[in-house]
Amino acid sequence: MSAAPGHAAEAVAAAAERRWAIAVLLIIASLVAMMVITGLHWAAMPPSRVETIDPRTLHVSGEFAEGNLGTTMTPDGKVVVRLVAQQYSFEPQCLVVPAGVPVTFRGTASDVIHGFVVGRTNANTMLVPGFVATFTTTFPEPGEQLMPCHEYCGTGHEAMWAHVQVLPREEFLSRAARAERLSCVPR
Ligand code: CUA
Repeated sequence: MSAAPGHAAEAVAAAAERRWAIAVLLIIASLVAMMVITGLHWAAMPPSRVETIDPRTLHVSGEFAEGNLGTTMTPDGKVVVRLVAQQYSFEPQCLVVPAGVPVTFRGTASDVIHGFVVGRTNANTMLVPGFVATFTTTFPEPGEQLMPCHEYCGTGHEAMWAHVQVLPREEFLSRAARAERLSCVPR
């Protein structure tokens, strides 16, 4: 056994370790760069398709004026629910939606951050002043659901609830045919 082959093997191993160390450092550096770039990008501008709205003029005119709130059917048969959250209630306080039909929610807040979840369904969003929150979901079963505010919004947060009536499809359609806007707020 001479010393030379051993030294050669050590040199090969050291070179291989250096190569892998450089590769790992490059991977880490590119991951950190991705985090920094995406973080700066998100901080600098909202994600695309975000809708903004002036919370100071919500009630006066436009999509979220009082007469526009509640459930409506568009001419092409889509069901849209519009609502506004404020300390400490939702407007309207009782929503009507059909079962088994996609329902699009459009909501915003007029003062601070609120949010809601409908019973045990996946209807769940934050409502941030200045932005329109929107999502589409389908309620599988008719029934009565509770809709609590789930973002701490002040001393009255615990008492901030709305109700959701999920109606059988036919019943909803016949009511929607008779009224332009539906809600179950007692009059
Ligand atoms: Cu509104 Cu909590």
